[in-house]
Amino acid sequence: MNWPENTDDIEKNLLKSDALHEYILKTNVFPREHEQLKELREATEKHPMGLMGVPPEEGQLLSIILKTLNAKNTLEVGVFTGYSLLTTALALPDDAKITAIDMDKSFYEIGLPFIKKAGVEHKINFIESEAHPALDKLIQEVKEDELFDFAFVDADKNNYIHYHEKLLKLVRVGGIIAYDNTLWFGTVATEGPVDPKYPDFVGILRDDVVKLNKSLASDPRIEISQLAIGDGLTICRRVY
Ligand SMILES: C[S@@+](CC[C@H](N)C(=O)[O-])C[C@H]1O[C@@H](n2cnc3c(N)ncnc32)[C@H](O)[C@@H]1O
Repeated sequence: MNWPENTDDIEKNLLKSDALHEYILKTNVFPREHEQLKELREATEKHPMGLMGVPPEEGQLLSIILKTLNAKNTLEVGVFTGYSLLTTALALPDDAKITAIDMDKSFYEIGLPFIKKAGVEHKINFIESEAHPALDKLIQEVKEDELFDFAFVDADKNNYIHYHEKLLKLVRVGGIIAYDNTLWFGTVATEGPVDPKYPDFVGILRDDVVKLNKSLASDPRIEISQLAIGDGLTICRRVY
């Protein structure tokens, strides 16, 4: 084997170009995307806030995690038009239950026809509420043997750190909590003013996401893996 003397300029992080992203989408993601997910994604892209939807390559990953985990009882915080929710509903068995929380039902109603067409609406319990009171209510109601297998968090980033404490009471040991947007448009690795091409909220919330990442990285109750997929996804496995 011819091993170079200096490997300093070789990186394992290959995904540096839009062309590679397009390649992944065209070869792996779009050909396997469920018909109703594709329709929902295309409808969401036309929405003025369509950027909020989970990208399809991330949906594909979530689907594999859910199936590998044999998840039957999941929680979602932040539904929007429902791309991640429909992904979850399609990945879970017919008798599974998804508790989905969002403070604005009108977004969910945009996605509902696609969810119905896919024949998975019966798995979903949608709760229109602010996340905090809804999670508190679940903590009161849920019995030890009914804890969630998986939680996906994709709502107000400044509250993730507080949701985390609640989710550790709601997700079973061995279960997964997945936090979306933890690389926050790449800004977590920058200092000073955020590029003005981004909306204000990106700069406003950057410190919250940085704080969350630091907190998750030092939390002994979970194992973590932070992935550079979509806008950054941190997968946490509850250890105790
Ligand atoms: C980024 S979007 C979710 C995207 C979604 N996972 C998807 O795949 O399309 C964030 C959602 O969180 C909701 N949200 C924001 N703050 C919230 C809060 N405090 N409580 C509950 N929902 C909230 C918003 O209404 C919005 O629909």
